[in-house]
Amino acid sequence: MGKKIISPGGNVSGVLELPGDKSISHRYAMLAALAEDTSEIANYSTAEDCRSTLDCLRRLGAGIEIGPDKVRISGRGLQGLISPRNALDAENSGTTMRLLMGILAGQSFACKLTGDASLRRRPMRRIIEPLRQMGAEIESSDGDRAPIEIRGGHLHAIDYTLAIPSAQVKSAILLAGLFADGITTVREPIRTRDHTELALREFGADVVAANRKVSVHPKPSLHARQLVVPGDLSAAVFFICAALILPGSSLVLHNVGLNPTRTRILDFLISMGASIHLAAVQMHDSELVGDISVQYSPLMGGKISGGIVAEMIDELPMLAAIGPYTEKGIEMRDAQELRVKESDRIAALATGLREMGARVEEFPDGIHVAGRGAGKLHGVSLEPCGDHRIAMALSIAALGADGKTAILDAKCVGVSFPGFFESLEKLRGKSS
Ligand code: S3P
Repeated sequence: MGKKIISPGGNVSGVLELPGDKSISHRYAMLAALAEDTSEIANYSTAEDCRSTLDCLRRLGAGIEIGPDKVRISGRGLQGLISPRNALDAENSGTTMRLLMGILAGQSFACKLTGDASLRRRPMRRIIEPLRQMGAEIESSDGDRAPIEIRGGHLHAIDYTLAIPSAQVKSAILLAGLFADGITTVREPIRTRDHTELALREFGADVVAANRKVSVHPKPSLHARQLVVPGDLSAAVFFICAALILPGSSLVLHNVGLNPTRTRILDFLISMGASIHLAAVQMHDSELVGDISVQYSPLMGGKISGGIVAEMIDELPMLAAIGPYTEKGIEMRDAQELRVKESDRIAALATGLREMGARVEEFPDGIHVAGRGAGKLHGVSLEPCGDHRIAMALSIAALGADGKTAILDAKCVGVSFPGFFESLEKLRGKSS
């Protein structure tokens, strides 16, 4: 797939199952590789990022079989990983690189990690510093970037307060904590997704979490599990937003992950007037899962800032891109982390939405996208900067524009959601 042409109009209606959650898939795969015996993971994400994790784990000695409905992972035990001959390549996946660094910090061999051009631009000091405090030796390009060489060994437990709200940093420290000489604690002044804590418990680790403080005990062994990954809420949000902006839409999304550290986006959309309802909510393997129904709804618009930004960070591109369909527009501040994602997402959104005719103001830490009164979007050719979430967010915005939009380099959506365009076409059915 080179460019993708989006014809506007119609609505999105019907029922959809989402691919497995990307964040949870990474964690289950990594912990399965560290467990004794063989784990089976159903609904493992089809995202290229999660395939990168499996490729790295295979090179570290885990047995990986990818079946039609399950991934089987034969673990090597906490001390059984083997030294790969060449650098591990995390490709575009920050989660792969950062969480693996935590695991590699506990190994007795040296290992190199690299990634694609985007990942090699992303900040790594946030991970390097705490792991060095624990005793790992880490070399990196200009002190902050991949490629990284990490030599693990005897780790000391630390008590670490996150300076940046980041589930990846928290997770890397907790994973390293499995190999430490005492109880490792991470304190997070701002809440982030807690999948690592939940997954560690599923695999038998001793984890205590309360009041934004998580502690992990070192563990001689983890046990294999059979787990089902919930559908990816961050992927669901693209279709939820499509339904909200296209009159006549009515969607049901089945088996979506509803972990409370991820659902702020739903609360925010509802606060703007969205008709969103949850049904059949149940706990599965420590994660909440349920069905989401959503109907077209006029949206008021609003502002996001402060602590909740971290809990919605992956959904902010989509939220900004529906700004022109709201009454008062969308503003986001305290969102400077968006500048160090797969692309500079603030700049990429400002450029793309301006090209479509939106009135946009860019700030160092955010963006303001004017509402409906500023005029209708029009179809143009858009460059998504190789960033999957930018490509999907602009594609959804294009559904309500005047004229066709071309999304250049549309294949980048595969990083998190290879079937995105097919699912969108299916939901648009005869209306497109
Ligand atoms: C993720 C954490 C977030 C998020 C990323 C996935 C995770 O990154 O943006 O897509 O799985 O832990 P940060 O930890 O950098 O905020």
